[in-house]
Amino acid sequence: MNKTKTVRTIKSLRAQMNDWRLSEQKTALVPTMGSLHDGHLSLVKLAKKKADRVVVSIFVNPTQFAPNEDFDTYPREEKRDRDKLQNLETDLIFAPSRKQMYAEDFSTRVTVDEISTGLCGASRPHFFGGVATVVCKLLLQALPTMAIFGEKDYQQLLVIKRMVRDLDIPVSIIGGPIIRESDGLAMSSRNKYLTSKERLTAPLLHATLTQIANSVQAGKPLAAQIRSAKSRLKKQGFDVDYLEARNTDNLRPEKQYIPGKTRLFAAAYLGRTRLIDNLLVK
Ligand code: PAJ
Repeated sequence: MNKTKTVRTIKSLRAQMNDWRLSEQKTALVPTMGSLHDGHLSLVKLAKKKADRVVVSIFVNPTQFAPNEDFDTYPREEKRDRDKLQNLETDLIFAPSRKQMYAEDFSTRVTVDEISTGLCGASRPHFFGGVATVVCKLLLQALPTMAIFGEKDYQQLLVIKRMVRDLDIPVSIIGGPIIRESDGLAMSSRNKYLTSKERLTAPLLHATLTQIANSVQAGKPLAAQIRSAKSRLKKQGFDVDYLEARNTDNLRPEKQYIPGKTRLFAAAYLGRTRLIDNLLVK
């Protein structure tokens, strides 16, 4: 088994990607902020199926955190991450420093309108600008054939798809399904913040989305189901940021259920941990 190489500069990333491009190998980039769990690793496995070479980037991107958010405490476990990626025979890890990614007088920001507003964009107004900027940079640095993102962060996936289309970035964007714990909780690096009591409550977020989906599929009105689900979540100890039904293609609010088009989106705090989840109503 070849050792997974880690590069830390854009120059060495580009040199390797160029070699693969010249030998006509398909490449897939999986951008991450590290602290890798099975959700991330599922994207690496998907990448391996679709491409000849797989690159994983690990970079906790400061521009997508607001000053009051968890940038300083965000889990960083690069050694463990590298071992996990080695086990999957990942071809390359790109783990740049902050300085490598952002010059001191860095002054450009990519904003993606419309699709970034509402849902997570409403409560975290800085967030999608930071994500779009860093993903734009990563795509231009690596110029892979494709880049893979999880549906766990569904709005993020659509923001990136829109950016790539609008800016003619020659990379295909591929979504991978949400990976869950056995009790339904969507895997997330932030689940580590949950106390053991909160961890027991956390799966109720996914259970609630499933209940709404089942009810509207059985003909019950969508708006009333959402209203009562919100009050159930509050009683269970969640501080609900949003619980909404949106169109799965363009995120426009949906008043009535359309099979295969309505996606439920939720964000809620349990203590200081913000959980997000979504579910397509088939
Ligand atoms: P991060 O939260 O580390 O997630 C990296 C990728 O893993 C994202 O595409 C995310 O959607 C996916 N992912 C996380 N949990 C998942 C799960 N349970 N199932 C499937 N996929 C999952 O998202 C980011 O980092 C950053 O915003 C980034 C895109 C790297 C830009 O900084």
